[in-house]
Amino acid sequence: MLALLKGLWRRITAHSFRYNPHCWIIGNPQIGEGVWIGAFTLIDAQGGLKIGKWTDISSGAHIVTHSTVWRCVSERRFPANERSPVEIGDYCFVGENATILRGAKIGHHSVIGAGAVVTEFTEIPPYSLATVVPAKVVRNIKEEIEKIAREGRPP
Ligand SMILES: CC(C)(COP(=O)(O)OP(=O)(O)OC[C@H]1O[C@@H](n2cnc3c(N)ncnc32)[C@H](O)[C@@H]1OP(=O)(O)O)[C@@H](O)C(=O)NCCC(=O)NCCS
Repeated sequence: MLALLKGLWRRITAHSFRYNPHCWIIGNPQIGEGVWIGAFTLIDAQGGLKIGKWTDISSGAHIVTHSTVWRCVSERRFPANERSPVEIGDYCFVGENATILRGAKIGHHSVIGAGAVVTEFTEIPPYSLATVVPAKVVRNIKEEIEKIAREGRPP
């Protein structure tokens, strides 16, 4: 009965996020309300993926929760497809063609710049703006966000 109710609830809430039909979603990510997922994105949830509410994932971004690196180069002596969950917080922005690798955690209200690569198990604190490869935090944007709340426009 509980499973039935859970399934029903999942169906009811399934469309609380929007996505371009050309995105590719693998597995069952946990996606918050108001999320936007752009075209040509790869949303791999096989290792577990949570995307917080009102986060945008721009075109071409890849979120990857698995790795077969060691399986390949070890000639399958290490047979595992290594999976690790990714978490992206509420109110984040992931720029075009950014890549987020397994185990990464992006804190809420953060920006991942276009083309950045957040490497495996990296933690980006809340209110960060991070760019380049590998992604580094450039600055804290909390004050800029508060200014927008006061003045209604970007600094
Ligand atoms: C990161 C971003 C939000 C701009 O942040 P910002 O702080 O306003 O950046 P600025 O334009 O002031 O640039 C600051 C510096 O970072 C560099 N920079 C900005 N964005 C960068 C990026 N994505 N990758 C690498 N470097 C970047 C700038 O060249 C500049 O370098 P400099 O100080 O050596 O001159 C923006 O560049 C970005 O990547 N936006 C994503 C847009 C997008 O994906 N849109 C999809 C459709 S909605």
